[in-house]
Parts: sequence; C-alpha cells; structure tokens
Amino acid sequence: MTTRSRQPKPFTIPLTELEQSAFCQTGSELRTKTLAEEFNAGVTWQKVPIRYLKLSPDEISEGIADAKAELGKDLTILGHHYQRADVVQYADFRGDSYRLSQMAANEREAKYVAFCGVHFMAETADILTSDDQAVILPNLAAGCSMADMAQMEDVQDCWDDMSTVLGDQGEVVPVTYMNSAASIKALCGRNNGLVCTSSNADAAFTWAFERGKRVLFMPDQHLGRNTALKMGISEDDMLVWSPFKPLGGHSPDALRRAKVILWEGHCSVHTRFTADQIADARKSYPGVQVIVHPECTRETVDAADYSGSTETIVRMVTDAPAGSAWGIGTEINLVNRLAQENPDKKVFCLDPIVCPCATMYRVHPAYLLWVLEGLRSGIVINQIQVPQEIAVDARVALERMLDLQA
Ligand code: 13P
Ligand code: SF4
Repeated sequence: MTTRSRQPKPFTIPLTELEQSAFCQTGSELRTKTLAEEFNAGVTWQKVPIRYLKLSPDEISEGIADAKAELGKDLTILGHHYQRADVVQYADFRGDSYRLSQMAANEREAKYVAFCGVHFMAETADILTSDDQAVILPNLAAGCSMADMAQMEDVQDCWDDMSTVLGDQGEVVPVTYMNSAASIKALCGRNNGLVCTSSNADAAFTWAFERGKRVLFMPDQHLGRNTALKMGISEDDMLVWSPFKPLGGHSPDALRRAKVILWEGHCSVHTRFTADQIADARKSYPGVQVIVHPECTRETVDAADYSGSTETIVRMVTDAPAGSAWGIGTEINLVNRLAQENPDKKVFCLDPIVCPCATMYRVHPAYLLWVLEGLRSGIVINQIQVPQEIAVDARVALERMLDLQA
C-alpha cells in the first residue's frame, strides 16, 4: 500500500473545456473572422502585434504566399486534419498526428517547420527533427484540453504509487497517447514504455503486453478502453485512475487485479458523439456507414460501423464508391473538408451542433502570417524547444512507436 498520503485536489475544468463550448454553433459555416473579431469574443489567445488584428483574409493570403515564396525550401508547413480550411490550404503536408510525426522525423532539408496543429504535436516535431531545425507553433495558446488533463506531477505520483503497491512484480508498461506533454512521453521512454497515436494503439498495446502484465494508458480513457476491448480484455479488468483521489480512487487489491489502468482524461470534442446520434443518422439515411474517432466513448464506437484515426477516416471516405453515405464522428473542419472533396457522396457530421476543436481553432491564419513574416526578417517567433533532458527520453518512446507497424 502506498506510504504517502495525498490530498484530493479540487476538480478544475481546464479553460479550454469552457472555451470549447463557447465555439459550438448551429450552422456548418465556419467563416474565418479577423483576429480583432475573435478577440472581441473574449478568447485568451496569444497577443500579436496590432497590425495583424484587422487584416482581411485576402491580405493574409497574399502575405503568406509572399513569405512562402521567399522562404522556399527553408520552410515546411505541416497541417493537422482539424485545422480550418483557411490554414490547411497553406500546408505542404497534411496528416494525422502519426503521419505528421513521421514527416517531421524525415524532414531534413527545411530550416523551419511551422506546425499548424497543437502544442504536443509541435513538441513531438521538435524532438524528432535535428538540432539545427526550428519548430514553430503559430499561436502558443494552441494546446489540447485532453493533454492538459494529465499533468506531469500527477502522472509521476501515479507511477510512484503503482510501484509502491505493485513493486517490480507489477510489470506495468506505461503507454502514452501522442496527445500528452513531452515530459510524460519521457517517463514512458525511461520506464520501458512507448507512445502511440490512434492509428497504432492496437500495435502499441500488443507491444506492451509482450513486455509486461499491465498497461498504464494516458491520458485518454476512451482510446485506451476501446483498444483494450478490441484485444479481448474485459472492462472488469480495467480501472480508471483519477488524479484527484488517493491511489487513483482504488484499493491496492483492485490495482493488483487490473490489467489496464486508464487515466481519467477525455476529449471534449469526441465525447459529444453519441449512440443516439448514430441511430438518428441510420433512420435519416438508410444504408449510411458510420465512422467515428476512437476517442469517442465505448457506446458510440460500438454503435458505429468503423472507428479509426483521422487519416483512416479520410482514406475510407475518399475510397468509398460514389453515392455512398457517411455519418462521421470527428472534428467539424475535417468533416466539412471531406464533404467538399467528395461531392459525389453524402458526408455529414453526426452531431447537429457544430463544435470545432477550440484549441486547433486558435491557429488563425493571421498567426501563421505573423510567424512567417518573422522568419522573413530573420526572427524565429514561437519556437518550441523541449529541454534536452526530457527530449532524450521522450525520443526513445517516440522511436519505439515509429518502429511499430502503423
Ligand atoms: P489523430 O491522431 O487521429 O490525428 O488525432 C489527433 C487528435 O487530436 C484527435 O482528437
Ligand atoms: Fe485535443 Fe480533442 Fe482537440 Fe484532439 S480534438 S486536439 S484530443 S481537444
């Protein structure tokens, strides 16, 4: 039994969770406003020089095109599938978090990598690129509310508690989802664990169970649960670790019995999708195929026909025959893009209330222009630099993932 006593912490809703609900709309039109208009809505984004506040979309476009032309091969822009259309149009490469990390690892030519995505993705790119390349996150406030649900000090406490209760016999393999801080990836690297994304979570679990008796999965309980269920592990053999309760809210015996320990984290975008929405979609569009991201709850994944990473969703819809109908449970910018790129198919979001990921949304094109104009004048703005002592161990955990068959 753990020897340290821990006080339950007050539960606080991350700011990004609150901002998330503020962006929900009933229309499907996600028009980019000027930064001044966005700031009027009371968002807490990074400050920028005043000149960028009122730029129109056309002025921003021209500026970005000029900067890209001047920087040439010195610059690569990476864009996650959830970025708004007005940003993703400038990306040299688009992808899910796994593909983008592969691209960062293989990119050796560009001096600058502008990462249009969220903080943990830019950290990963910094770890995987060489020391003479600079990774830039256009808006430093673009984090991820799920990643924020696992704070390093809580994860270290959990790890120490488990070592006390289970000892070496516990053989716990720590696996962290890409959506986590570099320090948590480093803990996994130091302790014979690895990183995974939603496109290789199955392979990561298999890898982990070849090396230990238990998996500690952070921070998304839903991806962890859905993956373990697919491997035939019963929900009775899983428990959810609350960082706000002593010993995660469990007895030492319960911990000894568990095969999978799931961190109590979730994605506020994906937990909006429900089995009822899927039932409604099937009524409205007989023959519809439903695909959801595995960050959705177990009930939603069970009710869907398929689940998969953003890249899988893109591939399945793109490869589907003309005339097919697809109900999709993932972020709205990707769903809208798929609908536009597949006019011969019916592609729609399962949730009638449109909620973009509030933190992905923080990468407004004016921020991209700001950092690119900085590079034109020889200034690197918003460079993401993971401290060396963290990067070394995090890289071990990331390379284990990159060695897996995705
Ligand atoms: P992918 O790994 O599927 O790109 O997902 C990343 C993410 O943040 C999903 O919410
Ligand atoms: Fe994080 Fe969810 Fe946004 Fe993905 S969609 S970046 S998990 S908050």
